[in-house]
Amino acid sequence: MRRVRVHPTGLSGQVRVPGDKSLSHRALLLGALVGETVPVAGLAPSGDVAATAEALRGLGARVDLHPDAEGQLQGEVRGPLREASDVLDCGNSGTSLRLLCGVVAGIEGLHVLSGDASLRRRPVQRVAVPLREMGARVDARGGGSLPPVVVHGGELRGIVYRSPVASAQVKSCVLLAGLRAQGPTTVISPLPSRDHTERLLAHLGHPVRAGVGEDGHEVVTIEPGTLRPAPIAVAGDPSSAAFWLVAAAAGAGEVEVRGVCANPTRLGVVQALRQLGAEVGSTLTGQQAGEPVATLSAAPASLAGAVLGGRLVVDAIDELPVLAVAGAMSRHGLEVGDAAELRVKESDRIAVLASALGAVGIHVEQRADGYRVAGQQRPRGGTVDAHGDHRIAMTAAIAGVLGTAAVEITGFEAVATSYPAFLADLQRLGGRVEVLDAG
Ligand code: S3P
Repeated sequence: MRRVRVHPTGLSGQVRVPGDKSLSHRALLLGALVGETVPVAGLAPSGDVAATAEALRGLGARVDLHPDAEGQLQGEVRGPLREASDVLDCGNSGTSLRLLCGVVAGIEGLHVLSGDASLRRRPVQRVAVPLREMGARVDARGGGSLPPVVVHGGELRGIVYRSPVASAQVKSCVLLAGLRAQGPTTVISPLPSRDHTERLLAHLGHPVRAGVGEDGHEVVTIEPGTLRPAPIAVAGDPSSAAFWLVAAAAGAGEVEVRGVCANPTRLGVVQALRQLGAEVGSTLTGQQAGEPVATLSAAPASLAGAVLGGRLVVDAIDELPVLAVAGAMSRHGLEVGDAAELRVKESDRIAVLASALGAVGIHVEQRADGYRVAGQQRPRGGTVDAHGDHRIAMTAAIAGVLGTAAVEITGFEAVATSYPAFLADLQRLGGRVEVLDAG
């Protein structure tokens, strides 16, 4: 296990973050459905994206990727896909597993998908139910609820599916199955979620119809069809940028992150920081593969406090752990509701966050669907176990940067899931790090 110690310091300067993880998965998955060679660039060199690439190779795709000058992955992907000869190992990646379920449901044959111990504890019923309605046979462990998942792929029919959760993974799974179904497929979700699949489908010549009803529900309809080749360039990951923005806003110094995907469904963290009282800059610099790209920046500010819920929580779902650190350093604290989904992420992120921040002296009150952290609590030194969760490991590191004494983190290798160069970037910004055990 990798063990590191992060010391309190100021941070300042510019940094680039890895390619967006959600977009990297989709670049490979949709690229493999085109049937011709699709050039891809800017993909995250992360464990999760490697899992999608490897699963696609198992399904017969050619996926050639190599690092560019900045360490991101570029190369080509080419389908077609067919039944694999072995289990598709999705590692730690829920997005790989759930989106692949939608892809393989339309491919004749038997498909078995599994992953690491964390992924095998995460729910799959949410994708099994609609895929069965579309005509696929789907079995899973634990009475149909947990991986491994077995999908018998073949002919599918279009459906109207009302998802009980606002999940981009569920929506994308059903849309990808719908691409190969007979007739249109509609997904209705209680709230809008990230729309990367929809934007990339349009970029590849197959637009979907999307809108938000008066009741706030999101309705997306796809017609079956084929995709056209087009190069896919992926911008930086706002979920990775979030660590630097929180550190800066909570007092570490001025930080700028360039080339970040600025899709509004991903900038909940910027809105949340602004609600807390921070000044966060966002300057659009261009467009890539149908996604806006921006420079994001933040500087120390006096943070008041905030209450978050509803749509903003969906848009900030992966950033809610690190936002707790900003909440603790604010005057009145941070309250988060409507976030029961945190319980079924790479870990139970409400319980693990409470234990991680508890270890550095910050009390987090757990709620069934969120948390409350009181203000005026500066992290102190301590030892945090990452619990195999990349975002908890990096949240603890930011607590170390902002605290009164060093924070030691065990299981830091988890950061490779999304941000392998996190420590190097922390040092580039002026952070002080000791690697106690390289693991
Ligand atoms: C993702 C969607 C979100 C998010 C995850 C990535 C995606 O999950 O938490 O990290 O790429 O579609 P849900 O769809 O389960 O909310």
